[in-house]
Amino acid sequence: MAAAHSVGFSHCGKFANRIYNFSRGNPVDPTLNRAYATQLQQMCPRNVDPRIAINMDPITPNTFDNTYFKNLQQGKGLFTSDQILYTDLKSRPTVDAWAGNSVAFQQAFITAITKLGRVGVKTGRGGNIRTDCGVLGR
Ligand code: HEM
Repeated sequence: MAAAHSVGFSHCGKFANRIYNFSRGNPVDPTLNRAYATQLQQMCPRNVDPRIAINMDPITPNTFDNTYFKNLQQGKGLFTSDQILYTDLKSRPTVDAWAGNSVAFQQAFITAITKLGRVGVKTGRGGNIRTDCGVLGR
């Protein structure tokens, strides 16, 4: 479903940790394509206006397509949750399959988004809003 990141924008603050303070001695996430990381730093300088948003798919930002998966193969996934789909060997075969077959991707997306649509909106006691994903809220 993260394939929905094939279109749309994201605010710089959502991925700033990957390009400025990833880890000690390694400010840039090593799974990120070097040229893409530099491009992101240029578009999102430190202390950027928090309203600034950039394309989630740097190659075909206005087309809903399987370029998202081709980007992942090149280290051009914007979020950690995107790039890990390729870094993790459990999901990499799926990324490769959909990068190479746009019809298979489109069909799988229809199935997934239809299921997601049927989840429905949870209200009141029917749902649970978590401030920490790992802890059930009250
Ligand atoms: C398994 C499915 C998905 C995962 C794991 C996922 C994950 C993420 C993550 C981690 C972020 C960064 C947000 C943050 O750090 O606060 C994000 C942002 C975003 N996602 Fe997704 N997402 C998924 C599905 C979708 C879908 C279905 C859509 C649209 C229909 C979507 C649209 C967006 C947009 C527009 C942003 C940028 C928000 C902003 O910068 O303000 N995502 N997503």
